Amino acid sequence: MTSQVTPHAIGTSLQRLDGRGKVTGTAPYAFERVVDDDATYLHPVQATIALGQITAIDTAEAEALDGVITVLTHVNAPWLASTEDRELAVLQSDRVSFRGQLIGAVIAENPETARQAAGLVRISYAQWPHEVELSSKRGDLYTPETVNPSFPPDTDEGDVDTAMSAAPVTLDATYTTPLEYNNPMEPHTTVALWNDHELTLYDSTQGAHTVRTTVAPVLGLDPERVHVSAPHVGGGFGSKGVPHAHIVLAALAARSVEGRPVKFALTRQQMFSLAGHRTPTIQRLRLAADTDGRLSAIAHDVVEWTSKVKEFAEQTAVPSRNVYAAPNRHTSHRLAALDVPVPSWMRAPGECPGMFGPEVAVDETALKCGIDPVEFRVRNEPDVDPETGKPFSSRHLVECLRDGADRFGWYHRDPTPASRVERGWLVGTGVASSIYPTLRAVSTATIRVVAADHYRVDIGATDIGTGTWTALTQIAADALEVPVGHVDLRIGETAQPEASVAGGSTGNATWGTAIVEAARALRDTHGRPPEVGAEASGTTPNNPETQRFAMFAHGAQFAEVRVHADTGEIRVPRMLGVFAAGRIINPRTARSQFIGGMTMGLSMALHEVGVLDTRFGHVVNHDFAEYHIATNADVGDIEATWIDEDDPYVNPMGAKGIGEIGIVGTAAAIANAAHHATGIRLRELPITPDALLR
Ligand code: MOS
Repeated sequence: MTSQVTPHAIGTSLQRLDGRGKVTGTAPYAFERVVDDDATYLHPVQATIALGQITAIDTAEAEALDGVITVLTHVNAPWLASTEDRELAVLQSDRVSFRGQLIGAVIAENPETARQAAGLVRISYAQWPHEVELSSKRGDLYTPETVNPSFPPDTDEGDVDTAMSAAPVTLDATYTTPLEYNNPMEPHTTVALWNDHELTLYDSTQGAHTVRTTVAPVLGLDPERVHVSAPHVGGGFGSKGVPHAHIVLAALAARSVEGRPVKFALTRQQMFSLAGHRTPTIQRLRLAADTDGRLSAIAHDVVEWTSKVKEFAEQTAVPSRNVYAAPNRHTSHRLAALDVPVPSWMRAPGECPGMFGPEVAVDETALKCGIDPVEFRVRNEPDVDPETGKPFSSRHLVECLRDGADRFGWYHRDPTPASRVERGWLVGTGVASSIYPTLRAVSTATIRVVAADHYRVDIGATDIGTGTWTALTQIAADALEVPVGHVDLRIGETAQPEASVAGGSTGNATWGTAIVEAARALRDTHGRPPEVGAEASGTTPNNPETQRFAMFAHGAQFAEVRVHADTGEIRVPRMLGVFAAGRIINPRTARSQFIGGMTMGLSMALHEVGVLDTRFGHVVNHDFAEYHIATNADVGDIEATWIDEDDPYVNPMGAKGIGEIGIVGTAAAIANAAHHATGIRLRELPITPDALLR
């Protein structure tokens, strides 16, 4: 499908085009966008109960503070045009639905005053008993209509129970992953300016157009009157993919000080109730195998939570539908709707938590069969997608496993757990598979000839630190058959043609396809070379090949774990990921994506857990001091590599998304290595020293 003669920008390790701007501090982030003496600052008031009703609000003391412009609460806030999205319906009623909910806002001349005044707002509540405890024994678990984004909640094929009773080797075990938080480096920030019925939002978001199309109807504005700008974003990991309530609050505040910008940056602590999170999961895995290690049944039953405010159903059991062959299969999702903030996307929703249970269960089953865990996975490689029966557009999971095993030195291991001790450290190795769907959305790109053979490419795509600025420039250069220096890419604005969110690992595939289409249209309508001033647009078409093929990226992850025999201290000195993700657009930025995902997976394995105080309904460790994230000192030798995979079916570039697959399976590889090191099987994340001191 890639027919043009290219200057081969794709596949080269072009340095980040936004790199200089970022390291010199000249690439503006949302909070830095308006440097105006006129700017005002917002500090929110948050609920201190998990469930109930506001019975009185006294704002007098706050309003009396010098520098306070106004205090917004449900008493005086304007009505929203739509409250259908209940997460976004801020200040519309006296109800409190979770602790930390936005119930007011102080707008002041400076951030310090706003913060001080927010602390002076007196609120009385009628408090009702709340429920924030997830358990698989709850009587109110329900089946959602779909799981994110639109998968059926349950699937069944064959008869798992019969296969379980007939099989010589079976496993029935429960695995849990905890409440987790995205925690991008740049806090969620909105700078809002309301002027003459036009709203401008300088927002830290994964999708400028997503913010526009979500926020406009809430405010009752024609989308054309909402302008969103996000040229540089300091990470999101999904938490900036779905617009959250703070954006609406900033917009309401801007309306109340019309003509003056309102700056609202969440604090790290506020992010723990206002920016989404990953639901805790309880996963029951049932596996049946013959003594040769061939699976006859896979059942994956998930219990997780959602918020009573708005449903979000993580698709945790979905990867079990596609990764291994087995004639008898079952998956299910059950939700508890609790008085908690709204869960949302976090890097690889579904696949990330949903490959922890299965990949540890597979390790356990391989051991029961006495088969090497790499070989076990190879033996269960399906010929076609087990769920749909379609062939894979390309699938090199086996090659990733074998290549990774060779590179990692896997076969030097003694398979016996707890058999290797080095100077007081128990040493083990583990493996897990990675899988992530290859999807694409719809976007439009415009290309204009600005000088002889020089092109400006406009598309409202976003770079959340992933390398979009660079990779799309490379794709455009190849599509236009010019050196990258002849391409002037512009992204991150609603002023540009409408583009999809940077989410679901769909960015490059979607935006890149639109750019290729625009380049074709330019060539078709204006010839070669096109005259200066010529312009053409292209939109990502439907991909007819999805009718014929199942499309996924794959990978294999290996980890070495050292556990101190006396203290239980756990270290991961070595990790290797081998991926098969189609054509790699830019090896430099791709490596960074893979390693970033694996590092986040390491963090998930060893550190990350939101500790909920069920008495009050809040997360106690809501800051970087206590919600631990892997630091440099936790990361050892980490390597990501890939197999050259030729896939002509996924998109014109032959590239699969890589933003999320790096985190899929990492935690399982580490848990499996910890078992190999110690003989202790851990089915609960994170893995902490106390659990290894049995
Ligand atoms: Mo990613 S969690 O799909 O933004």
